[in-house]
Amino acid sequence: MSTLYKGISSLALTGESFGDIRVIEDAALAVDAGKVLYAGSVAKAPACAQEIDLGGKAVIPGFVDSHSHLIFAGERSEEFASRISGKPYAAGGIRTTVRATRAASDAELKANAEKLIAEFYASGITQFEIKSGYGLDVESEVRSLKIASELTPHTTFLGAHVVPEGAERADYIKSVTGEMLQAVKPYAKWIDVFCDQGAFSVDETKEILKAGIAAGLKPRLHANQIANLGAIPMAVELDCASVDHATHLTAEDIAALSGSNTVVTLLPGAEFSTKSPYPDGRRLASAGITLAIATDCNPGSSFTTSMPFCIAVAVREMGLTPEQALWAATRGGARALRSEGGSLDVGSSADFVVLDAPSHLFLSYRPGVQLVSQTYIAGKRVFERQ
Ligand code: NIG
Ligand code: FE
Repeated sequence: MSTLYKGISSLALTGESFGDIRVIEDAALAVDAGKVLYAGSVAKAPACAQEIDLGGKAVIPGFVDSHSHLIFAGERSEEFASRISGKPYAAGGIRTTVRATRAASDAELKANAEKLIAEFYASGITQFEIKSGYGLDVESEVRSLKIASELTPHTTFLGAHVVPEGAERADYIKSVTGEMLQAVKPYAKWIDVFCDQGAFSVDETKEILKAGIAAGLKPRLHANQIANLGAIPMAVELDCASVDHATHLTAEDIAALSGSNTVVTLLPGAEFSTKSPYPDGRRLASAGITLAIATDCNPGSSFTTSMPFCIAVAVREMGLTPEQALWAATRGGARALRSEGGSLDVGSSADFVVLDAPSHLFLSYRPGVQLVSQTYIAGKRVFERQ
């Protein structure tokens, strides 16, 4: 049955190129069989079997969160508190979560992820990626990715998050590129490495990504969060779909990224939570680089599920315009996953968000306020604010 959503004060549509947002006032959205039938002015809307009046709210495409670590147990609020009092963020904290994750049952891991996914829906996220990376042995990485693959098609093998406690570096890399990779392969679409101080070097990262590519996975990368080890030219050369964090970049890195197919994914929650400097998003945008914004939801460096929070920080602290930030959190996320989504083009999945606000600008104008009123995936409501 077709449905016409009307009473839309402003409808934000995403175009193909970075930052391209078209706003239609007095708009309507028609949905049939889970797909967008029409998105435009109410005056030209088709007749539908049923009509729903939203009473003057804004509608935007659903957010696409291209970077999350939802398979874990435990929390690290004390580590957060010590950072706030001045201790720098370090990759080693990951091992705390590895201990808790290995000790948890499959049911506990899945229930924790599902709770966070419910929060994603409440924040307007309609598509999301999930990484492994808190198992760091064959059995724990396999079960992490098995659970992830039950929750999303966008799954990423991050066995190379850090070298786990008690493992020899060379042996561990041998496992990640061999036995572990073969075992997780049925459940993973992407391969990722944390290429940074305290994690993996550029040469190690290249070896691991190449092994993943040879096994049929597609590459993406965590890099330049804590330090710049020189990963960016290699990431571009291997055609990584995305480099994520990218806090520390040289002019040469920016030149390599512009004109490439590699998206830069900004993770505002990570700099916020680790009290680190924010990357200069405006400089990246001016260089013609395609940007995405993601939550990086994880218990260590960014324990948020709120895309509106990430948008507000990207606008306030990274210098993006509200339109660039909205695009980055929708179509940019889809681009970073080399997937469809983040648009309300006719024929696309009807993934959209109703905001209790007159326009998308309120996402950064009213930070920290729950503006998401309803979230729809394929025309089906998955969240409604009470
Ligand atoms: O993306 N930087 C590497 N991985 C995660 C943090 C992991 C953790 O601290 O538990 C991130 O920020
Ligand atoms: Fe991450």
